[in-house]
Amino acid sequence: MNSKNGLRVLVARTEIESTVKKLASAIARDYRDKNPLLIGILKGSFVFLADLVRQLDFPLEVEFVRLSSYGSGTQTSGKVKLEQEPKVAIKGRHVLVVEDIIDTGITVDFLMKYLQKKKPASLKLCALTDKPSRRRVHIRIDYKGIDVPNEFIVGYGIDRDEKHRNLRDICIIEE
Ligand code: IMP
Ligand code: MG
Repeated sequence: MNSKNGLRVLVARTEIESTVKKLASAIARDYRDKNPLLIGILKGSFVFLADLVRQLDFPLEVEFVRLSSYGSGTQTSGKVKLEQEPKVAIKGRHVLVVEDIIDTGITVDFLMKYLQKKKPASLKLCALTDKPSRRRVHIRIDYKGIDVPNEFIVGYGIDRDEKHRNLRDICIIEE
């Protein structure tokens, strides 16, 4: 179904849109008067974060961090490095980390521990997609979108080798 150019639609744009709205209303309930700092993890979260903030009609701020896991191929090596640190103060802020996909959990686990040391007023996680079958460390996802199977997904910001970030649907690459 919907297979073209080796891509099969897993989550159609309409389902992404309703998921983003559902997440935004939960976030709005909890953060309306808190001027939260939303921290997107580059690059994958940029499309999701852009859509998410436009569903939030209260004061907030946006920051980005960039992480890399060095190793080979599409697997997380287990060693994470902060390539671009947050430039704004974290202390005393209500921080919400926004991620595209939680896979092994290693990347986000590293970031949450790093941010916690900076003494935020609160620290939570929002993830559009979750691949729970691959988890290697326990992660609490406070605002979770869609569970995805153990397949490599692309689109809506998510890439493989920098390609397919511009797809409007989340797709599986069929080899
Ligand atoms: P983790 O540290 O294993 O949780 O890896 C998370 C990161 O790996 C995500 O932010 C993505 O950049 C990347 N990743 C994991 N699974 C996929 C996938 O299916 N497609 C594209 N990138 C993925
Ligand atoms: Mg990512």
